[in-house]
Amino acid sequence: MSGLTNKRIVLGVSGSIAAYKAPDIVRRLQDLGADVRVIVTDGGREFVSERSLQTISKNKVHNNLWDKEAELSMGHIEIAKWADVVIIAPASANTIAKLCHGRADDLLSTVILATEAKIMIAPAMNQQMFAASAMKDNLGLLKARGIDIINPGFGDQACGDVGEGRLAEPIDIASQAAELFTSSLLSGKKVLITLGGTREAIDPVRFISNHSSGKMGMALAHACIQAGAKTTLIVGSISIELEKRAEIIQVISAEEMYQAVMKQIDNQDLFISCAAVADFRPKKVSKNKIKKDNQSMTIELIRNRDILASVCQLKKKPICIGFAAETENHIINANNKLIKKQCDAIILNDISQTEIGLNADENEVHLITKNRTEKIEKNTKQIVAEKIIDKLVNNFFNPS
Ligand code: C5P
Repeated sequence: MSGLTNKRIVLGVSGSIAAYKAPDIVRRLQDLGADVRVIVTDGGREFVSERSLQTISKNKVHNNLWDKEAELSMGHIEIAKWADVVIIAPASANTIAKLCHGRADDLLSTVILATEAKIMIAPAMNQQMFAASAMKDNLGLLKARGIDIINPGFGDQACGDVGEGRLAEPIDIASQAAELFTSSLLSGKKVLITLGGTREAIDPVRFISNHSSGKMGMALAHACIQAGAKTTLIVGSISIELEKRAEIIQVISAEEMYQAVMKQIDNQDLFISCAAVADFRPKKVSKNKIKKDNQSMTIELIRNRDILASVCQLKKKPICIGFAAETENHIINANNKLIKKQCDAIILNDISQTEIGLNADENEVHLITKNRTEKIEKNTKQIVAEKIIDKLVNNFFNPS
């Protein structure tokens, strides 16, 4: 999961030998979180199997504009509307020429005419063809119409020539697509986020912890990165993949998390304390595995430091955002937390509902500041995270 999370991409594969790389492009887009549907032209089918594209994309591959059944399941207009982005990779010389003329004689060219989505093309062809003045004019025209050109690379070509015309690397195609969704809301800002649960050791094999998955913190990390922030994550125990574009510091206990936060806090603009930090830890950690000789045992617990409250006490402190997971008197308790910890905002989770909040894929929160309480309706954690970041920017960095 990352820069293309929840984004819907139509990959158009046209007739170039580089079409054999199309399954890899699908993979790279998926690595960044995209849902990918493939349209392959008749020319593209000569170079890559529909079965490979279907297996990797996990979606039916589209080819024929005139296939009644395919049109019934997802017609060309539906595909055009479904897409957030259409990427043609590889884009053959013929497909590029067709786009220039607005032809609609196959599924891909028709979808291109019918879509409002952003269009990107990655040309791939013989170096002489790429150098032809007709090609230069055609690419200039498409660029002027707002289509992004993902420039081909220079090097050995399948035909034996050496020159410019090799398809851009699949990973570069995917990251250029991800850049489309990067805003500048937090550009130049530094954000520090704690996430996941902490583990408080009892003995070398046992610990006290909680159900935190890290999903909400990671969704906030994606949202911050997409908003252009330099993002550092202090990560406890999580059950999801790490965000590759953030600086990652992994910790185990609350005390380690405290130390890591204090080391990183200087010069941060925003601190989001999303971690489920254990409030207590065993007073003594047994060096050896505790034997189960007795019928009962008692573990004495002592308080952990409150990381968020400690950051809020710093003389030079960033904008500080805390989370409150409440089961009752939600708004009152969250407001009390805002005052007690002296943070700038609290994001309130109602954890009495199992389908949202802790460990769930969806969330519904209230953003509480000194002056107002705003509800963010139930949605995927990613969408909720993006709305939280928008609101934080409006409240603290860009107040109207
Ligand atoms: O006091 P409570 O645990 O309900 O507060 C939750 C908020 O405080 C969360 O933002 C959490 O990350 C933070 N917290 C902390 N250090 C602790 C306990 C909670 O930073 N020891």
